[in-house]
Amino acid sequence: MSGALSPREAACVYDRIGRLQDWQSLYEGPAIAELLRAGNFAKARSVYELGPGTGALAERLLSDYLPKDARYRGVDVSPKMVRLARERLHRWAERARIDLVDGSLPLPGPDGGYDRYLAAYVFDLLAPGYSVRVLEEARRLLGQAGLLCLVSLTPGRSGSSRLVSAGWRRLWQLDARIVGGCRPIDLAPLLIAAGWEIRHRSVVQAWSVSSEIVVASPRLVGGQ
Ligand SMILES: C[S@@+](CC[C@H](N)C(=O)[O-])C[C@H]1O[C@@H](n2cnc3c(N)ncnc32)[C@H](O)[C@@H]1O
Repeated sequence: MSGALSPREAACVYDRIGRLQDWQSLYEGPAIAELLRAGNFAKARSVYELGPGTGALAERLLSDYLPKDARYRGVDVSPKMVRLARERLHRWAERARIDLVDGSLPLPGPDGGYDRYLAAYVFDLLAPGYSVRVLEEARRLLGQAGLLCLVSLTPGRSGSSRLVSAGWRRLWQLDARIVGGCRPIDLAPLLIAAGWEIRHRSVVQAWSVSSEIVVASPRLVGGQ
């Protein structure tokens, strides 16, 4: 199998990965910390997350970053991940929910119902055309003052990180399932082309794996 995984294929892969996903924190941790700094979550009222996996980021948000009455909703295609995330977030059951989705669009959720839209290491596994449609959905779900907060694998810029990302992409081309469907991508150009205004962008390296962190807001039509 080569090329991006379909949502159904991603569900099978992540049903098998399950809790092992949390080991990725080895290289994801510093980038997630940067996202938590840049996303201004202390001011968030309602958070939407695409692909929360085991719910590790949601747990950190709910316990340490969000106001005590802020709401959280995550949607994931993997039944196993949905079960793990629900278990992890049971303490916040009154204001946190996780829904199983099948990858079809539109995503569940009201227009303008959220002020943060998160996706950590999810855009790097989506097919390019699907990513564009998911970004349109993010725009629909976010209110005008909302922030899109993304992290993904990105090509290394120098030395060992360049070698690691080239090897990673080769494995992905061979069979995307080997690397959980993920490959290094450039988020910023994708967002700019889709009409987002970049408010924060950085690249963080851990264990020679590079991650791009982007916080963006919907560009207002006609400069309103
Ligand atoms: C690489 S894992 C990242 C999990 C988590 N965000 C983290 O950083 O640990 C990707 C997650 O996205 C989910 N996923 C993949 N495609 C999806 C889609 N089209 N819609 C919703 N979730 C998806 C997978 O089931 C998996 O839980």
